[in-house]
Amino acid sequence: MTDLKNDRFLRALLKQPVDVTPVWMMRQAGRYLPEYRASRAKAGDFMSLCKNAEFACEVTMQPLDRFPQLDAAILFSDILTIPDAMGQGLYFETGEGPRFKKVVSTLADIEALPIPDPQKDLGYVMNAVSTIRKELNGRVPLIGFSGSPWTLATYMVEGGSSKDFRKTKAMLYDTPQAMHLLLDKLAQSVTSYLNGQILAGAQAVQIFDTWGGNLSSAAYQEFSLAYMRKIVSGLIREHEGRKVPVILFTKNGGLWLESIADAGADALGLDWTCDLGEARRRVGHKVALQGNMDPTVLYANPEAIRTEVKRILASYGKGSGHVFNLGHGITPEVKPEHAGAFISAVHEFSGQYHQE
Ligand code: CP3
Repeated sequence: MTDLKNDRFLRALLKQPVDVTPVWMMRQAGRYLPEYRASRAKAGDFMSLCKNAEFACEVTMQPLDRFPQLDAAILFSDILTIPDAMGQGLYFETGEGPRFKKVVSTLADIEALPIPDPQKDLGYVMNAVSTIRKELNGRVPLIGFSGSPWTLATYMVEGGSSKDFRKTKAMLYDTPQAMHLLLDKLAQSVTSYLNGQILAGAQAVQIFDTWGGNLSSAAYQEFSLAYMRKIVSGLIREHEGRKVPVILFTKNGGLWLESIADAGADALGLDWTCDLGEARRRVGHKVALQGNMDPTVLYANPEAIRTEVKRILASYGKGSGHVFNLGHGITPEVKPEHAGAFISAVHEFSGQYHQE
């Protein structure tokens, strides 16, 4: 079970030597793939894909089958499984994004929230992880994930997606103690959820702090980074005889890289607003880096995509410690061939950066 045929993703996260730069894409299983849309139609809707281990496994494998050069698989699920397990009633309105039947507005609402038990309340995710690990059979490592407490809190307080997070920010500034209680409950939930995924077979984990970059610098430290640090310190860091690397991804967190690099994780995910070479000079002695091509480059022609891949590889320069990725998830309108051009370019052009 622990024999990996391709471990360059795990090696790069630990800054161990690799032959070429490993690559995967955030949201690599998704609507840009016709085979994903067919599976979703068969399952009925998005949450039915997530809640059925066979379907979750099927769609996790789709990008790997189409693009054999991918160096990692990511569990097919969603970050909003935790608020759903806390009783908020997650549903998806077609074309509208996520929504909750119950919204968190008051201290009493927060006090009433349970901390989900990963086995009992999120057993479907644990089943998906172990089913996918079996199906992968050591082909590439499996990434588990969760949202950050702050990012989850925005969805729970707004009741769905938001442009300005006005309710969440008002709660943060009006009743910081209430916000801290919510974030603390979420940090406990995320820690046991990620540990559950690791025990079920996830070989690396990523925390998606999609909305941390929307906070002021002071509020980011107090309301997002502090809770991610707490989670990282509670995670199982070695399993099945191997290190389980942790990746922190704060979108728009480029200004705070030094403090994020001090949170105890092995790697930082970068969005495309940072210069990768500069990020390496700032924090590369502490952590590996993952990223960071602008996902909209995938709308351009394969030749332009290859040029951008070369530029980013040169920006990082020689040596291990870089996992190539997009700076955020791939979007539904991208042509699969363009994703393919991106993935193959990473291996094609990165060998020169890994020779002695
Ligand atoms: O990367 C992967 O392939 C793993 C799967 C994955 C999904 N969501 C599947 C998904 C991951 C890692 C996520 C994380 C997630 N979910 C985040 C953080 C990452 C990020 O993008 O910043 C967030 C904020 C969510 C919440 C969420 N889920 C939103 C806002 C939406 C709707 C937006 C959209 O793209 O429609 C979802 C739905 C969702 N999650 C889809 C997928 C493939 C689309 C559902 C569909 O099939 O219609």
